[in-house]
Amino acid sequence: MQSIKKLKNIKGKRVLVRVDFNVPIKNGKVEDDFRIRKSLPTINYLLKKGAQVILLTHLGKDGTASLEPVIKNFFTLSKIPKNKIEFFENVRKFPGEEKNDKDFAKHLASLADIYVNDAFSVSHRAHASVVGVPKYLPSYAGFQLEEEVKNLSKVMKNPKHPFLFILGGAKFSTKMPLIKKYLNLADNIFIGGALVNDFLKAKGYEVGKSLVDESDFGINKFINNKKLILPTDVVVKKTDGTFINKKVTEVQKDEIILDVGSESIKNLALIIRKAKMILWNGPLGKYEVLNGGATKSVLKLVANSKAESIIGGGDTVSLISENKMEDKFSFVSTGGGATLDFLANGTLPGIKALK
Ligand code: 3PG
Repeated sequence: MQSIKKLKNIKGKRVLVRVDFNVPIKNGKVEDDFRIRKSLPTINYLLKKGAQVILLTHLGKDGTASLEPVIKNFFTLSKIPKNKIEFFENVRKFPGEEKNDKDFAKHLASLADIYVNDAFSVSHRAHASVVGVPKYLPSYAGFQLEEEVKNLSKVMKNPKHPFLFILGGAKFSTKMPLIKKYLNLADNIFIGGALVNDFLKAKGYEVGKSLVDESDFGINKFINNKKLILPTDVVVKKTDGTFINKKVTEVQKDEIILDVGSESIKNLALIIRKAKMILWNGPLGKYEVLNGGATKSVLKLVANSKAESIIGGGDTVSLISENKMEDKFSFVSTGGGATLDFLANGTLPGIKALK
């Protein structure tokens, strides 16, 4: 990837910057502007060099969302005068975007002289604004994209040991490649989130009405691997709506597992204390109904540890932003699915397109 630092004489040149301002919006307001903040170094750098910046983003899955709250947040946050930046419409409004239609990519390219990708978090999508446009314009990587690649690469090539990988969230089948890979690279993998239910079910325990991944993903191949650490207790929701901490062997048919339990957190704390490298992806439970729950407790443990810590995955990152803990970790990734794919494969379609 060529860095934007390599750009010479861009005064007056039109630069199309693919950013990812796909941020949570509630009641017409941006709830978490982490991704927007992280794009500012690139945008400010280009403006300082005299470029005309056009920002390109999607918002939401289907392109129907208005960019208005995002634009408002951007100008308030950045203090950049409104006449200095142009915003293209929500790019997913155009069917050519997700199809990576050639004519649509050419149309986007015609808007500018130079293309910059600073949208790591959407670079796992082979969409027109990500992989199509770089075919038709000189293309460069923005600072955030470079930072993501640099930092996430640290947990792929010669990571420091002891190396702990904490993996939460749901959809086990999508996390299989990562588990396989990190069983080789890490010293321990702690399993949290709804993934726990899949393991407990495979071990023959009762998981009640908990969320499980029904697809066949061959969990039995590594279920007894000594590097895997499963919670010994969980927080469940009972039929009367109350929550209770119990052993994983005591879950009842009508209960729902929502979080990792307190004994498991204590045991994990010992491993965190010894670790030199920690990689974390995905929340450990339903933190939003449990006042942060195990996810928040473990975030604090990692924040206070001496380990180099690299954290990714949209939900965990929202909690970090909410609690103003960003600076407590070595690196917080802007990516959700993109981080998982990058960790599993070492590259992404949007990165390859810049080469
Ligand atoms: C994300 O939020 O992970 C990215 O913006 C990609 O969004 P998508 O999952 O809708 O493609």
